[in-house]
Amino acid sequence: MSSQTSSSGVLAKFFVVLFALFSVFFQLAAAVPVAEMEKRDIFDPTVLYPHAGTVWYRGQTHNVTWDVSDPPVNITNKIGKIMLRKGLIPTPLILADGFDILLGRIEVTVPWVLTGDDYSIVLYGDSGNFGQQFTINQ
Ligand SMILES: *[C@@H]1O[C@H](CO)[C@@H](O)[C@H](O)[C@H]1NC(C)=O
Ligand SMILES: *[C@@H]1O[C@H](CO)[C@@H](O)[C@H](O)[C@H]1NC(C)=O
Repeated sequence: MSSQTSSSGVLAKFFVVLFALFSVFFQLAAAVPVAEMEKRDIFDPTVLYPHAGTVWYRGQTHNVTWDVSDPPVNITNKIGKIMLRKGLIPTPLILADGFDILLGRIEVTVPWVLTGDDYSIVLYGDSGNFGQQFTINQ
C-alpha cells in the first residue's frame, strides 16, 4: 500500500517537473522569433520623389529618389525593386529592378497606363515601402 502511494507520489512529482520543463521550453521557443527579428537589419527608406503634386507623362524618364541618410550597418537585402501601385492595389508593373538600395535614386521610364491621380511608387528592399500618391497622365 505505502509503496503504491509513494510511487504515485514520485510519478506526480515527475509530471510536475516535466510540466515545468515544458513551460520553460515553450517560453524559450516563443522568445526566439523576437530575438531573430532584432538581429535583422531592416532598411526602410522613405520615398522622396515622386510625391504629392508630381505629374508624370507616359514615356518620360524620371529619377525616383529615396532617403539613404540613415541605413543600418548590415542591410539584410541590398537589392532594390520599384513597382507601381494604383490606389491601394499593387500593379504587376516593375519600373526598376536589381539596383543597389543605397544609391538613393534610380531612373525609371513612365509606363503607358491609364491616367490617374492615385499612383504611388513601391520601393522594395527589406520590406515594401510606398511613397505619396502622384499623377500619371498620357
Ligand atoms: C537622374 O539623376 C542623374 C544623377 O543626378 C542624372 O545624371 C540624370 O540626368 C537624372 N535623370 C533624369 C531623367 O532627370
Ligand atoms: C555586421 O556584420 C558583421 C559581419 O557579419 C558583424 O561582424 C557585425 O557585428 C555586424 N554589425 C551589426 C551592427 O550587426
